[in-house]
Amino acid sequence: MHEYATNKGGLIMDLRGRDLLKLIDYTPEEIQYLIAVAKEFKKIKKSNQSHEFLKGKNIALIFEKDSTRTRCAFEVAGYDLGMGVTYLGPTGSQLGKKETIADTARVLAGMYDGIEYRGFGQDVVEELAKYSKVPVWNGLTDEFHPTQMLADMMTVDEHFGYLKGLHFTFLGDARNNVGNSLMVVCAKLGLHFTCCAPKSLFPKEELIKQCEEYAKASGGSITLTEDVLEGTKNADVLYTDVWVSMGEAPELWQERISLLQKYQVNKEVMNNASPNAIFLHCLPSFHNIDTKIGKEIYEKYGIKEMEVTDEVFESEQSKVMEEAENRMHTIKAVMFETLK
Ligand code: CP
Ligand code: NVA
Repeated sequence: MHEYATNKGGLIMDLRGRDLLKLIDYTPEEIQYLIAVAKEFKKIKKSNQSHEFLKGKNIALIFEKDSTRTRCAFEVAGYDLGMGVTYLGPTGSQLGKKETIADTARVLAGMYDGIEYRGFGQDVVEELAKYSKVPVWNGLTDEFHPTQMLADMMTVDEHFGYLKGLHFTFLGDARNNVGNSLMVVCAKLGLHFTCCAPKSLFPKEELIKQCEEYAKASGGSITLTEDVLEGTKNADVLYTDVWVSMGEAPELWQERISLLQKYQVNKEVMNNASPNAIFLHCLPSFHNIDTKIGKEIYEKYGIKEMEVTDEVFESEQSKVMEEAENRMHTIKAVMFETLK
């Protein structure tokens, strides 16, 4: 066993056999530990050292929705760790048509050492984990996107050198998987989280209450506002996501555009934040009309940029590509720590 990732800064954590379904289930120390492990893996990767620490193990990746980053991150991290990787896409397996989640979980757990699942309801990934005797990792559900959070916090930490006390603002559809998860992780790690969105798109009251408790314990805070200038004033991090998520009806575009247009991250909004602020986005992003959907939206509604302008997306302040790369290092840390 490699010394890396077993004793990070004196922290010893045993996460073997654990699922990663949502960060609500993880302590702040465990989250910080996974980020520390990911940083070590990044160093190993950058120095081209072989790290096939999980040779002989195999993982299955179930994707009921499309993916570029999450799939590639799991695949590359799996190969780097020496594992065999099977991808099961939105079509081509029995799951959901002829076979239940419970049966699929038990069958796959008999062959694989870990299972990634991306799909719709959080209850599905929870059910999969219930019936699987091997770790299950949530690669995004309608409610949560925990592996994204590890990469996001790692990126912020790499940039500022710390997390506690930073002012982090999310603009947009704040009750989607990313908005919910950011509120959870910021509250747990002691950041000051601002949800800047129309009231109808605030996270559920119950989750807000839960996060307020985490924030009380960590020294962080939760603020909800509909006012863009107030919500972004002096922020250290501005974060946004698509206005309509995977699995939502395309008919929602019109309503979301009218609700969220004023929450677009543009130069004016960026200038209202701290001069040292960074911009993050989980990606994919509609910052131009060079995509099929981007073009359709332009033809239908006349807007060329949605949640973020091309200017901000391509600016020095934008750390979205570092963030995307960190998906791989953090997912590697999760797999290593839960399977080693
Ligand atoms: N951020 C993210 O999860 O991207 P993919 O949908 O490409 O996996
Ligand atoms: N909220 C987005 C995140 C994509 C990574 C979606 O679910 O489509």
